[in-house]
Amino acid sequence: MSVVTIEKLGKKYKRTILEDVAFSLEAGTMTALIGASGEGKTTILNIIGLLDSDYTGQVLLFDTNVADLSEKEQAHYRNTKLGFILQEPLLIDRMTVRENILLPTVYLSKKERENVDFQTRLVNLTKNLGIYDLLDEKPNTLSGGQKQRVVAARALINDPELILADEPTGALDQDNANIILQLFKKLIANGKTVLTVTHDSNVAKQHDRILKLANSHVLEIGEEK
Ligand SMILES: Nc1ncnc2c1ncn2[C@@H]1O[C@H](COP(=O)(O)OP(=O)(O)OP(=O)(O)O)[C@@H](O)[C@H]1O
Ligand SMILES: [Mg+2]
Repeated sequence: MSVVTIEKLGKKYKRTILEDVAFSLEAGTMTALIGASGEGKTTILNIIGLLDSDYTGQVLLFDTNVADLSEKEQAHYRNTKLGFILQEPLLIDRMTVRENILLPTVYLSKKERENVDFQTRLVNLTKNLGIYDLLDEKPNTLSGGQKQRVVAARALINDPELILADEPTGALDQDNANIILQLFKKLIANGKTVLTVTHDSNVAKQHDRILKLANSHVLEIGEEK
């Protein structure tokens, strides 16, 4: 099943950022998106992640044209189907790490919360990411790399189908970067889909596919693995 289908995507600020961009992402795969700084990688993630609707062309998520979704439906998609690991780790400093990670669960309906053991999921995720001991801390006491892992846990707490990760390993050492990659591999083995923006060719190589954004176009890089 195609989880993301992009057709003829265009985006302009003062200059053209994206032109005639097309690609699709299949369920159970992880794809790296590479390209120089300022080329428009975050712009693409924001469009797929329903944070930016000011574009030309078509974006389909789970075979639905996102332009046909109401604001409310888009918000629901963002909270339940998408896990967005933002480039800037935005955490709420007056809440603990635990509360930050559980925040997306607050907006679920009663029905969606039924039969889900969020405590177990929280423990598993944070142990996996090596941040279990930080659950009662406040985010402003954490290092950049610790914050990045908290953001990853928060993005995954609702068990999203599609994970959009913008430089998720940018502030991490090799060991912690590998922990994130192993987690992504586990997710795709369970049928989830991952799109990772990265500058690190070692991280990119561990994905099934590499897409490169240059001169407003996206090209597939072959046989890179
Ligand atoms: N809100 C905005 N208004 C005007 N221009 C913008 C805006 N946001 C981004 N841009 C421009 O769009 C281009 C693409 O930005 P984007 O953040 O997508 O790049 P990127 O590939 O993610 O770069 P990096 O690797 O540095 O994160 C840049 O030239 C940037 O200056
Ligand atoms: Mg960016």
